Amino acid sequence: MKERYIAVFDSGLGGISVLRRLLEIMPQERYLYYGDSANAPYGGRPTSEVRDLTLAAAGMLMERGIKALVVACNTATSAAIGALREAYPGRIVVGMEPALKPAADRFPGGRVGVMATELTLREEKFAGLMDRFGGECQVEPICAPGLVELVEAGLGESEAAEALLRPILEPYAGKLDALVLGCTHFPFASRVIGRLLPGTALFDGGVGTAAQTQRRLAREGLLYDGPGEVLLENSSMTRESLELSARLLRAGEI
Ligand code: DGL
Repeated sequence: MKERYIAVFDSGLGGISVLRRLLEIMPQERYLYYGDSANAPYGGRPTSEVRDLTLAAAGMLMERGIKALVVACNTATSAAIGALREAYPGRIVVGMEPALKPAADRFPGGRVGVMATELTLREEKFAGLMDRFGGECQVEPICAPGLVELVEAGLGESEAAEALLRPILEPYAGKLDALVLGCTHFPFASRVIGRLLPGTALFDGGVGTAAQTQRRLAREGLLYDGPGEVLLENSSMTRESLELSARLLRAGEI
């Protein structure tokens, strides 16, 4: 059982930013990464559609005998984590949420942006986070439509990304203590974001999700001691998407 895969799922390539965090702390595990790029982006879709896509992908991964499922997508988590827990009671299913807590802890009374998809920002999970931390800091929800598509095309750190983000982020330049990257695609544009918001600290949820996965596996006695492996799969299964997945996995510091 220990040697079974940890499945890491995202609407596309963004979850690779979480896979990298998992590999940092558990390089000896075997990972099966599955990105649903054929259906990305999820963020502008109705919640019921994202729930169905997530349940379908989870079902396919569960059938492959995985030991844990990491939903490395804030959008899919917001839409489907309840349905997943109901469908797979007793299984390890770890979701994601925008890293508002660490940002609020570090900047009490500060101004914190949360950049995420339309779906994430309109769903209950985010409303819950606002209730918990909205009193501790001033939260600014920020939507960045089009950025997921650029990351899917391998253009997260490009002039096109900078042109897209400039009008969205410039009004916040010098005004935010922190920006939470509440979508797993966004760390792949973090250099562009950092240039547009100098002096703003960036937070992403990958570190917390990886730590939570490690805790759950340890609690169930399911940590594996290697040899580690990473399998990259994608619903579009084109050579380009697989090559880009491998490139993002190796990308410089994010
Ligand atoms: N990577 C996903 C997230 O963390 C969303 C991308 C999409 O819109 O498909 O929210």
